[in-house]
Amino acid sequence: NPSQDYAGIRILITAGPTREPIDPVRYLSNHSSGKMGYALAQAAQQAGAKVTLVSGPVNLTPPAGVAVVKVMSALEMHHAATSRSAEHDIFIGCAAVADYRPESVADNKIKKSNDELVVKMVKNPDILADIANSEPRPFCVGFAAETQDVEHYAKDKLTRKKLDLIAANDVAKTGQGFNAEHNSLTVFSKTDAIHIPLASKLDVANALLSLVLIHYKK
Ligand code: PMT
Repeated sequence: NPSQDYAGIRILITAGPTREPIDPVRYLSNHSSGKMGYALAQAAQQAGAKVTLVSGPVNLTPPAGVAVVKVMSALEMHHAATSRSAEHDIFIGCAAVADYRPESVADNKIKKSNDELVVKMVKNPDILADIANSEPRPFCVGFAAETQDVEHYAKDKLTRKKLDLIAANDVAKTGQGFNAEHNSLTVFSKTDAIHIPLASKLDVANALLSLVLIHYKK
């Protein structure tokens, strides 16, 4: 019987990848399976939180008792999350949101003709940074998926996006991160760093939520 530490707390979580359409049949995306975000939603719900999960396209069954909003693109995820953030106490950005999208979506399937195809990309809005700069502002937790200089880039995102906490995820290590069953994280606040060792994503989610609660209550 998990403790009900999160009773009365409303949490908004993003999970999974986004798909950025190129034409009616093609898209650009990444390897996120949604498992980490769904584990967070399940752990938070079991701890008594009221959970809203904004999910990109994944092959997972939503945890019972969680309100799920399904989206495809980064722009859709941005709208779904920012329009709901004011009604939540905590925001956790676990989704692997595409940083760029094709500037225009072709009306018809692009035909194979030239030897090269150039797709111009434009920047997507940053969901996490926009929510962290909004009013009323929920307590904001980011993830940082990095393949090098993990601590440096994670701390940079913590300050640049004005977050309360950031969970650095080394995605170059095998057996953790994108589409893996396990994960390990290092969680940075402005003052400290706490390591959550390799474990199932549900165990890691519970450990992360315990840390979040300590900082949220401060
Ligand atoms: O889904 P799984 O297969 O279980 O894998 C889990 C995971 C590796 C995807 C997850 O643990 C993780 O690290 N998620 C963040 C992935 C990511 O895109 O990180 P980033 O460093 O590019 O982005 C930094 C933060 O900004 C993230 O909180 C991200 O959600 C957020 N962001 C990024 C771009 C954008 N346009 N809007 C955002 O909100």
